[in-house]
Amino acid sequence: MLYYGSMEEVKFPVLITNFKTYESATGVRALELAKLHEEVAKEYGVNFAVCPQVMDIWMVASQVKIPVFAHHFDAVTHGQFTGHILPEALKMAGADGSLLNHAEKRIPFSQIADSLNRAREVGFFTVVCARDLKEAKEIAALNPDAVAIEPPELIGGDISVSSASPDIISKAVKEIPRVPVIVGAGVKTGEDIKIALKLGAKGVLVASGVTRAADPRKVLTEFAKALKGA
Ligand code: G3P
Repeated sequence: MLYYGSMEEVKFPVLITNFKTYESATGVRALELAKLHEEVAKEYGVNFAVCPQVMDIWMVASQVKIPVFAHHFDAVTHGQFTGHILPEALKMAGADGSLLNHAEKRIPFSQIADSLNRAREVGFFTVVCARDLKEAKEIAALNPDAVAIEPPELIGGDISVSSASPDIISKAVKEIPRVPVIVGAGVKTGEDIKIALKLGAKGVLVASGVTRAADPRKVLTEFAKALKGA
């Protein structure tokens, strides 16, 4: 298979920035933001990954050397699947992995296993999202590469999962011993990251804390220092 961009290994602890459809993280601005992640990650020797929109993956992945994730993919193969996102196409565009079942792009539970099988076939790193501990445990039983817990009511707000629900992090880490647990929602400070990692999370998912920041470099630097201290 011909790949654009370099294949990047996902290492823990990792900070994954979900670009969603924020204007500050779309098109050429997605590339600028991804390059900023790469620069700060390199300076501090930490693991950052970016998750731009599918349309921007080729451009971003061909120009940065940090892991690039897709928002979503479909459990389809080559053929008659108009409008679907083919994992092979994502991989050829340079994606190293994908989120799946994000709160803003949920899929039926029954489809998750099929999607994970497709991801394994193409060698794709999967971060499957869950809205609570119960769902996270059900998803973990399907053996994704990581499970990400994001309480939906905290997404996009200023109260972080680390401050509002530290118990969900520690319980998840204890009750899901075999799959790395990532947490997200409302993460805005280095302290939020430190708490999550101290409780055993292997990574943090963030969006608005970076995409809506007046000075993303300053925020990413604070996040990098928090990851580094972990
Ligand atoms: O995927 C990450 C996301 O849902 C968290 O969003 O804006 O609360 O950091 P945000």
